[in-house]
Amino acid sequence: MQEQAVLVTGGSRGLGAALARKLAARGDRVVLVGRHLAPLQKVARGIHDAGGEAHVLAEDVGDKEAVHRIAGAAAALVGPIDLLVHNASTLGATPLRLLLDTECEDLERVLQVNLVGPFRLSKVIAGSMALRGRGTIVHISSDAAVVAYPRWGAYGVSKAALDHLGRILAAELGEVGVRVLSIDPGEMNTEMHALAMPDADPTTLAEPDDVAARIEQILASGDGTLGGARIEAMSTDGAA
Ligand SMILES: NC(=O)c1ccc[n+]([C@@H]2O[C@H](COP(=O)([O-])OP(=O)(O)OC[C@H]3O[C@@H](n4cnc5c(N)ncnc54)[C@H](OP(=O)(O)O)[C@@H]3O)[C@@H](O)[C@H]2O)c1
Repeated sequence: MQEQAVLVTGGSRGLGAALARKLAARGDRVVLVGRHLAPLQKVARGIHDAGGEAHVLAEDVGDKEAVHRIAGAAAALVGPIDLLVHNASTLGATPLRLLLDTECEDLERVLQVNLVGPFRLSKVIAGSMALRGRGTIVHISSDAAVVAYPRWGAYGVSKAALDHLGRILAAELGEVGVRVLSIDPGEMNTEMHALAMPDADPTTLAEPDDVAARIEQILASGDGTLGGARIEAMSTDGAA
């Protein structure tokens, strides 16, 4: 597979960092976005030490003003983006609470980070993909997008909307060669999971490196029929 210019949001830990390492190891030029510089730099150093290329941008994907900075800097660093992974995400207020106990401002913030931010970034980057007739946009989803778990309200609403954003973008962009997928990584041993479910046994959860390896396989398959699909990364048949 040809080496690609990749932008991964939420690349400083968990699944985003694992995916960045995996993609850089196959030769991709990777840009990592997160709010905090030091953990991003640590991931990038690990990639450099392994012989890969990684760059970091300390930005908040929920910040309207950041979108052009992210897209512009990323293209300047690695060239036009071939693969855009919307992985950064927030749970909202924790401990998780019932929907009617959720502040409207908290719901707004979750939607800004998990839905509107990805939409803004795709708006800026997908045009260049369409002009070149190729590109892939991945929305990292969750089972909370399809199952109505009590107390996962703001997050679940945002992920359900993100899935549907992906379906519509796929329907609109498939003809011009841009593939849009939603991938549900399943439960992983990460900071987000620990924050949401502090009592969970980490040994029962998938490791982000294993999930990243599976996502890399799905992406490398180049299967055009996957446009608009919602894929469960760790299910045996991969279909949701
Ligand atoms: N862990 C699970 O069990 C699980 C299950 C289903 C789906 N998912 C999904 O998988 C994806 C990765 O989750 P994870 O568990 O790896 O999460 P994580 O360990 O909490 O990592 C989240 C990453 O996103 C970044 N981030 C958070 N808010 C951001 C913002 N506003 N702007 C830019 N970057 C931001 C964080 O860095 P900063 O804090 O420095 O910004 C960090 O790099 C998410 O989309 C999540 O919803 C996870």
